Amino acid sequence: MTIETLTIRRPDDWHLHLRDGDMLRAVLPASASQYGRAIVMPNLKPPVTTVEAALAYRQRIRDALPGDSAFTPMMTCYLCDDTDPGEIRAGFECGAFAAAKLYPAGATTHSEYGVTSVDRTAGVLATMQDIGMPLLIHGESTDPAVDVFDREAAFLRTTLTQILTRYPRLKVVLEHITTEEAADFVMRDESGRLAATITPQHLMFNRNAMFTGGIRPHYYCLPVLKREQHRLALRRAATSGSHAFFLGTDSAPHDTDAKESACGCAGIFSAPIALQAYLTVFEEEQALHHFEKFASENGARFYGVPLNEGTVTFHRIPTRVTGSIDLPDGRRIQTFLAGETLPWTLA
Ligand code: DOR
Ligand code: ZN
Repeated sequence: MTIETLTIRRPDDWHLHLRDGDMLRAVLPASASQYGRAIVMPNLKPPVTTVEAALAYRQRIRDALPGDSAFTPMMTCYLCDDTDPGEIRAGFECGAFAAAKLYPAGATTHSEYGVTSVDRTAGVLATMQDIGMPLLIHGESTDPAVDVFDREAAFLRTTLTQILTRYPRLKVVLEHITTEEAADFVMRDESGRLAATITPQHLMFNRNAMFTGGIRPHYYCLPVLKREQHRLALRRAATSGSHAFFLGTDSAPHDTDAKESACGCAGIFSAPIALQAYLTVFEEEQALHHFEKFASENGARFYGVPLNEGTVTFHRIPTRVTGSIDLPDGRRIQTFLAGETLPWTLA
């Protein structure tokens, strides 16, 4: 049966890049108007590595919100080799940090201060395990000998397995999974302490999208899009009803000059349209009955926060995706699926 409207509990975005300054002010309304909360990534320049920096960044986000907004930014700490376990504990206990993010050094945008080896973060990970603080992982091997399309699978076999074995009670979110190996890895975990976010682009496109008729920088993100077999596995995982998978857009704005360049930045700005994109996928998979769990319940349960009050309603009215958002200095940020039409409109 085809439904014309769908109402679900207000969702959260468990993986979001908001940036800072003019870009923050330009992109924040799209997330704040749709989601109750978001896990805000700390890869600013310089990265958010201290309680003080997280509180100041949270205040800048709050200052950029419309007056009537109830949106809650949940802040994260960027882990470095020399992160002090005391800072992690203090930040989590006072509510400044909801989680900490592990970027393997060199894996992605602004990851140069990231972790060079898990051994260097032993004290931090032990503390996080003790206090129940989630570790959010960009799961890609940085070994230059590993093919770019194999980096996630390699990371699972080496680093992730090591972390999970050494810290058997540590809560871990494998962020923006892109492969069948990762979906299976998370699905096989029976402890309930391992989860994964999945982006709209990895559910909708395989790697051909980056090369259709020429090189298409607006489909480039990290981890990079993979083969069709992986996209199909991610769709099965996301729509399965499993508690271990939840919405995390990884919406990552860069201006068009930075994207459309000889060395273009990784990142897809999906915040304005991600919900309708996910919904389209769930409908195509005949799994509308699992959409609310993925968008509005599984993440909150994993993080141990209450489900949002309030709802959002979708209508079966086609939405043509707006091309871009303008910055005050004339730069533009191109939106994921710009110019395409999706079958649903958010009321
Ligand atoms: O595509 C990506 N963009 N992947 C990341 O891991 C970082 C992000 C960004 O900050 O632009
Ligand atoms: Zn990200």
